[in-house]
Formats: sequence, structure tokens, C-alpha cells
Amino acid sequence: MRMVAVLAAVALLAASGCGADHDDTPPPATVEVFTWWAEGGEKAGLDALITQFGTDCRGQRFENGAVAGGAGVNAKQALTERMIRHDPPDTFQAHAGAELLDYIDAGQVADLTGYYADWGLRDVLPAGLIDDLTVRGKIYSVPANIHRANVVWTNPAVLAAAGITAPPEDLHAFIEDLARLKAAGVEAPLALGRDWTQLMLLEAVLITDLGADRFAGLFTGATDWTSAPVAEAIGDFVTLLGYGNLDRDALDWPQAERLLIDGKAGYQLMGDWAAADLTAKGFPGYGWFTFPGNGNTFQWLADSFTLSTGAANLGGTECWLKTVGSAAGQQVFNQAKGSIPARTDVPATGFSPYQQSAMTDWKSAVQVPSCAHGSGCSQAWQSAVNAALRAYSTAPDPKTLQGALAQAATRFIRS
Ligand code: GAL
Repeated sequence: MRMVAVLAAVALLAASGCGADHDDTPPPATVEVFTWWAEGGEKAGLDALITQFGTDCRGQRFENGAVAGGAGVNAKQALTERMIRHDPPDTFQAHAGAELLDYIDAGQVADLTGYYADWGLRDVLPAGLIDDLTVRGKIYSVPANIHRANVVWTNPAVLAAAGITAPPEDLHAFIEDLARLKAAGVEAPLALGRDWTQLMLLEAVLITDLGADRFAGLFTGATDWTSAPVAEAIGDFVTLLGYGNLDRDALDWPQAERLLIDGKAGYQLMGDWAAADLTAKGFPGYGWFTFPGNGNTFQWLADSFTLSTGAANLGGTECWLKTVGSAAGQQVFNQAKGSIPARTDVPATGFSPYQQSAMTDWKSAVQVPSCAHGSGCSQAWQSAVNAALRAYSTAPDPKTLQGALAQAATRFIRS
């Protein structure tokens, strides 16, 4: 795209008789930022960061390269195509952890270790997160936030109408509450969306049934995907699917969330970008609880920004990354995005009650990664698991699903 624009500009200069010798005007300093934050609370977060970038990086223009679609399912594909054409954006969103490793191994992102020293980031980011970001002694991205994946969002009015006034204590009680809603006339009490959102639900159930350690072991090879506890978790997952909307595979997460807002569902399992989105969509009265049985497990993921190898505007991109990593940038971005700052020195004032509770939990919780959002699984692994879930919708056989999940782990686990 940019190449086309440059060629057009050269053609224009040639036609007008102006060569570079006669025109010293520097080209516009534009930083193309590639994300999947295109609407609702996600766009609100990005917009806040753009405003901060405008203040911090005078003379630089923000170019929005966003490709819509929850969890970046479309964006990641579009990015791959651009990488193949050697036309990368200046910077792109990538999850800290396994997913980032794909880009590092392909040589598509630059080493940012020196910036961490220049900007003092090692002193203000949690040591565990720095560890997760460090690959062979180097760091390749700047985290903007910490999101929590294992949260259930509620429509309190729908629950109250069925006599449900407190969060369920465990998975069994949750299933009872779902049945109660169904008996009260709520046809699909659990709002469900497409493949990757189902993976989030499955992961939450696995945390409950296996416990945090064994769950984390699923992504390192320490826990066997063919084991009986995984089969049991798949059984519970299937039970939960039975309380969801049948058109789940056709809905992205905001459309499933719409069922909750409109009172057609009582619950939705979703990451805490939902907190910002529910507010942005005029539903600030939502309730929430950690997925039943997850205890004090915080399933984390972090949006981070990279410097593409060969970025067209190096100086402007450095300034963008500095803003992303700054206290002011993280404050405005996260307040609008629903996540919490990755930095530890941003005050909690101005954050929503949900976010303040997440900030407290993050400090004391047991942390586990997310496969759906790249902290635990590579992109190839995510794609294989998502395909297995789509296949389950067409031909619902739990054993086949478990087999496909186990096969994906065998193929894609990194030693
Ligand atoms: C995640 C991302 C979040 C949010 C979510 C839904 O992968 O980390 O920031 O955008 O997808 O699209």
C-alpha cells in the first residue's frame, strides 16, 4: 500500500518537473500502527493512546492500520500477507509470550532491549512479565497492559428475575444457575461466540478441573491432553455449551455480548476488554465474577507493540513505543480499554471498580497463560485448536475433540 503511494508520488514529481533536488520538504512522518481494535471499548482504548501519542510525538501522524475481528483472527492473517509482501506496518500488536515468538523466530521484529534501558522499563514492569517477554536474552516488544481472560460477565437484572442474587460457588452451582435461568424462560442463558471464544470457555473449565499447575502444564508438555481429567473437563465444557445459543459459530464476541446486554442471556465468559465494551455500549451496570472453581487463578495476557524489521519510520515508531510504555500512556489507554497497566507505578484512581479489583488480584493471584490469546500457544497451535472446536460444532463428539486437542499439542508444543 505504502509502496504504491510512494510510486505515485514519484510519478507526480516527475510529471511536474520537480526532482528531489528541488524539493527539500521531508515526507510526512507517519507511523502506521496495526491492531484489531476497531470498535467499542477496544477502539476507545486505541483512541486514548492516539491522543497521548499526539501530545508526546509532535510532528508525527498516526496512521490506523486496524483490521477488525476479535482476538485478531482476521488481523493476524492480514499481517502475515503483508509480511510475505515485505510491506510491514511500522508497529503491530502482538501478545506477549508464545505468539510473539513466531515473529521473533521469523526475524520480523527488532530487538528493543536497548530501549528498555533508555526508558527505565525494567524498573517499572513486573519481573515475571519481563521474564515472559525475554527471548534468548533479548526483548522484542513493549507491553501496553495486562488483560484477564477468566471472567464471567453478568446481566444482574436477568439473574435477579430468576432469583439468582449471588455468584455461584463452584462449577456445579454455576450449572444449576444456568438450569434455573433456562427454567425461567431464558432460552440460551450463556452467551457464546465463535471458535476462539469457545476456547476461552474450555480453558476456564480446564483451570477449574485440573487446577492452575496442571492447566499451565498443558502448554509445556507436563500435562497429558489425553488424560482422564481433560476428558472430564471436556464433558463439563459440553454441558456448558448446552446452555448457550445455537448460532454460536456465527457470532464474534461483541455480538455474543449483545445477547447479554439485551437480556437474552444472563452470563458471558470473556476477557476483561468486555468491562470497557459494556460501558462503551451503555451497560455499565454489569456484574462479574472469576470463572467458578478458578479460585485465585488469574489467566493473563498482555497486548504488546513491536518495531517491525525494516519499519519505514523508525523515529516515529520509537516515539509510539515510548508512549505505549509510559505511565501516562498506560493510564489513559487502560482506563478506556478495561485492562490494567502492565507498569506497577500507575495509580488506581480513575479506574473502574472492576479494574481496581483486577489490580488487587494481579498482585496476589496465581498466574496462568492463555492459549486463545497467545501467552500460552503459538499461532499455529491456536489455529489447530480453533479448527477442532469448529469441527466439534459440526460433528459433536467429545472423544474426537480431545483427540484433536492432543494432536495439536503434540504437533505444536515447543520444547
Ligand atoms: C485479545 C486482545 C484484547 C482484545 C481481545 C478481543 O486478543 O488481547 O486486547 O482486543 O482480543 O478482541
